[in-house]
Amino acid sequence: MTVLHVVGARPNFMKAAPVYRALAKAGFNQVLVHTGQHYDALMSDVFFQTLEIPAPDESLNVGSGSHAQQTAAIMSKFEPVVLERKPDVVLVYGDVNSTVAAALVCAKLGVRVAHVEAGLRSFDREMPEEINRLVTDQLSDLLFTPSPDGDENLKREGVGSEKIFLVGNVMIDTLVQFLPKAEELFAGIKEKLSLDRFGLVTLHRPSNVDDEATFLPMLQVLDELSRDLPLIFPVHPRTRDRWSAQLKQCNPNLRTIEPLGYLEFLGLQKHATVVITDSGGIQEETTYLGTPCLTLRENTERPITITAGTNVLIGRDWKLLREQFAKSLNGYQKQSGQIPLWDGHASDRIAEILSRYAKPASR
Ligand code: UD1
Repeated sequence: MTVLHVVGARPNFMKAAPVYRALAKAGFNQVLVHTGQHYDALMSDVFFQTLEIPAPDESLNVGSGSHAQQTAAIMSKFEPVVLERKPDVVLVYGDVNSTVAAALVCAKLGVRVAHVEAGLRSFDREMPEEINRLVTDQLSDLLFTPSPDGDENLKREGVGSEKIFLVGNVMIDTLVQFLPKAEELFAGIKEKLSLDRFGLVTLHRPSNVDDEATFLPMLQVLDELSRDLPLIFPVHPRTRDRWSAQLKQCNPNLRTIEPLGYLEFLGLQKHATVVITDSGGIQEETTYLGTPCLTLRENTERPITITAGTNVLIGRDWKLLREQFAKSLNGYQKQSGQIPLWDGHASDRIAEILSRYAKPASR
């Protein structure tokens, strides 16, 4: 039985790593394909080393481009790989362009697709990721959901319940595994930072960073907030490419740095007084860690982080941001409970289900 994993962008790596490990333990034959959507060492290579993922068996090296170019490049380079490797199941992760491109190729070749992190919906079709989620889920044969809202969304869209499996959150598997190492590393980082308290910022959504009218006021507020609490801001290439001059003009308490490795970033998330972000995964990680998270988006595909976690949706309401930031500074924290199945064993559940279901597709 051959399982082929497709990864391409930074958030895929921490999702695929524990699944790869669980399937190895269960004796699956595995092939790892890296599309090359992310290619900078700091956006890709460091994650393979840290997360102990083997080097990819196939690297498609597609690089950047418009959505159509990138998706098409992945499809045309991935199709021959599928034809040659003849996997029984292809596992795709999350909501990036690599996810939907691979799912499309497999659906047309009649190869079974399993989507890890299925069913999440922001209900905002202006987000490229929402389109990727909708299409991938429609094309998938097995849908592994992280939380019950995912199951509800899929059923509402007509996906048969026999295909849906609530397994929990694979990214939390990685977090649980690597948190002790991240804590060890943090001791050294803390010394270097020489800060008692700090906040952590990440911003890369096109809706936030592509337009001047949106990004510059946001940066101004962050600059202002950093005077009360130093903010560490690892800058995504998309944001750096567009705004490096403006970022340099901010006060030194807004500490812009290169993208961080997984362990460094995890340690900072754990010990931050507050995290300000537009990422999806960080909303989940902060909920698990119990760190306050202020999300600079109008909506989230991860509502459980609001109802059961530490997340607050801020949108572009700068008054609300200032208020919530001040609350975090004063030690206020939303009550967050343990989310069922975010327990470090989601990948084991996937391995168990695949052992039962990953027979060659009978189409
Ligand atoms: C992608 C995902 C997004 C995810 C994010 C995590 C899609 C549609 N979006 O967004 O869901 O949250 O990854 O980082 O798949 N670049 C580099 N080096 C790299 C990668 C990108 O310099 O290694 C630059 C390029 O200028 C590129 C831009 O970043 O044009 C955007 O990269 P791309 O992969 O298209 O999308 P992301 O914004 O990273």
